[in-house]
Amino acid sequence: MARTESEREVAAERLAVLRRDLAEHAWRYYVLDDPVIADGEYDRLFRELLDLEARFPDLATPDSPSQRVGGAALSAFAPAAHRRPMLSLDNIFNEAELADFVGRARRGLGSEAEAPAFMAEPKMDGLAVELVYERGLLTVGSTRGDGLTGEDITAQLKTVRGIPLRLRGDAPPDELQVRGEVFLSKKGLAELNRQREAAGEPPFANTRNAAAGSLRQLDPTVTASRPLAFFAYAAGNPEVLGVATQEALLRRLAECGFPVNPLAALCADEAAVAAQYRKLLELRPSLDYDIDGMVVKLDELAAQDALGATARAPRWAAAWKFPPSQATTKVEAVEFQVGRTGAVTPVARLAPVSLDGVVVRKATLHNRDELARKDIRLGDTVLVQRAGDVIPEVVKVIEDARTGAETPVAFPERCPVCGGALHSREDEAAVRCINPDCGGKLLQRLIHFVGKSGLDIEGLGKKQVELLLNTGLVADAADFFRLDAAALAGLEGWGEKSAANVLAAVERRRAVPLARLLMALGIRHVGEVTAEALANVFGSLTDLQQAGEPELAQVEGVGEEVAASVFAFFRDQANLDLLARLEERGLRILPPEPKETASGALAGRIFLFTGTLSAMTRDQAGALVKAAGGQTAGTISRRVTDLVAGEKAGGKLAQAAKLGIAVMDEAAFLELMREHGQYGD
Ligand code: IVH
Repeated sequence: MARTESEREVAAERLAVLRRDLAEHAWRYYVLDDPVIADGEYDRLFRELLDLEARFPDLATPDSPSQRVGGAALSAFAPAAHRRPMLSLDNIFNEAELADFVGRARRGLGSEAEAPAFMAEPKMDGLAVELVYERGLLTVGSTRGDGLTGEDITAQLKTVRGIPLRLRGDAPPDELQVRGEVFLSKKGLAELNRQREAAGEPPFANTRNAAAGSLRQLDPTVTASRPLAFFAYAAGNPEVLGVATQEALLRRLAECGFPVNPLAALCADEAAVAAQYRKLLELRPSLDYDIDGMVVKLDELAAQDALGATARAPRWAAAWKFPPSQATTKVEAVEFQVGRTGAVTPVARLAPVSLDGVVVRKATLHNRDELARKDIRLGDTVLVQRAGDVIPEVVKVIEDARTGAETPVAFPERCPVCGGALHSREDEAAVRCINPDCGGKLLQRLIHFVGKSGLDIEGLGKKQVELLLNTGLVADAADFFRLDAAALAGLEGWGEKSAANVLAAVERRRAVPLARLLMALGIRHVGEVTAEALANVFGSLTDLQQAGEPELAQVEGVGEEVAASVFAFFRDQANLDLLARLEERGLRILPPEPKETASGALAGRIFLFTGTLSAMTRDQAGALVKAAGGQTAGTISRRVTDLVAGEKAGGKLAQAAKLGIAVMDEAAFLELMREHGQYGD
């Protein structure tokens, strides 16, 4: 259908007006909660926009409100790297721990620093996301993921009504990374669950699961149908907004069009923080959204920068959690599970009870001493609690509810799986099965080996591994690398397709980075961080295997206990045999990627960028530093050796001067890179 040029022009003009007006009305409605037109009128304008865009598809823009209805479904979520890490928060639970947190912060800031002020904000119980705006336009939205890389859910996030598709105001920064929480209101959950139950679908257990489930929909039209809301509470790069405090940051974010929690409060001192906590705790039941605590942040951004962060969490903020919710129920049975290291853990089977909307059926009783100390008997009424996301636990027996018919539970004398002897060391509470061939231990080791913290082989979960072990298809970890398609397909509940999928997933892990293999082996005390450190320092399995205890203990983050554990692991013939079999079956171990090692011209130097660079982005500049053997940092600290100051460098300059860190401008930085062959010709 040919349309005349003038029709197109008229449509383009009208669309611009509709986009602007609809964005304004949505902002008034979802952010200010103060609409100036009736819902019906809004709907009419919206339909007009959709009709016009349908007739002139090329006139649709990325910030058109039509994005709110969700576009085509994706086949998978792409990874999205965060420009700066999205850290976690350390928890505090009472006023004493608040005092510790404040004390640490004050010592970190030095004795001349004035008493700091704090922002206290409700801790939203939803899903943390990052929204990147380039020249004012929302371009990428992502989940937090592991903190470094999340999933790209831009299309889904565009359907969240409170999230602006374009920043308000005339002079948006080149790039703004807004962080906040997507959540579902309690009312929204009730309504959604009503619809789901009517449609014969299982209801969501709580608002957080519902929010997460709604966002992680490959089809954004499904997300659009859910009443999700958003509060902004942080920026990855607050320096571009020219603000000096968290309070001003929240105000600027509101000016940019973001919903900001009105309960965020500036607190002049620790006592005010504690008072705000009590106030929120009291308000909690009356709020239409779930909060699980209060986030306390140092208000001054310069102070935040000065304190910096650990690998996990900032030193300038803490999450003051609300007390866990509790319920009473009956103990129906006590089972004893054998873990990967042989530890025997008592687990209570409970009459199902709802806690925070989640149905709880079992609770850990930790170990033999705990079981004895709490004197838990079959038939007992017990108080259970869920603290955050951890497995529920039994707090205590309600002794008044005893009838005399309860039967005491004896901790087993021998391993409940293999019947082998149990042993407990004096220095720990765990009781362990010491039979090296215990089937219970083997099962857990195998589950770990292919699980998320191990090789992460898709399609091999607990159930599948148990079946493979019980049918004899797998007797040790190396056997995963010689599985047979026909045998797999013949397993109960399997078929050719699932067999082929698992074999393909195994193939994808035939070449593994050394660090991942170390994690998968389940060496005691060796988690992700230690595995990475060991792999980086030793570079190969052979070198690691030959390392002595003192040498191992030299590695950053490896203490004597860890060193002893690693050393012992490689002195155990059974482990050496397993490694040999893995190699025999074709497992290839990839050396760590060369980086930050002692080689390279900038080895030992840590660069921090501040302000705007003109020749390249910070990420590109960081890549040059790394290519020359240096490292980069996200926040200022004593570790930083060089501060590169671009245009409009802010508070970090003064901080650097205080810490005695060398400062160079962009030109000097580029010159340095040129010298080391990383830039220009
Ligand atoms: S600030 C480095 N503020 O807490 C700290 N986090 O961040 C940056 N959360 O999973 C985050 N409410 O989902 C911040 N008002 C608030 C928050 C908040 C909830 C959550 C967030 C994240 C966790 C740690």
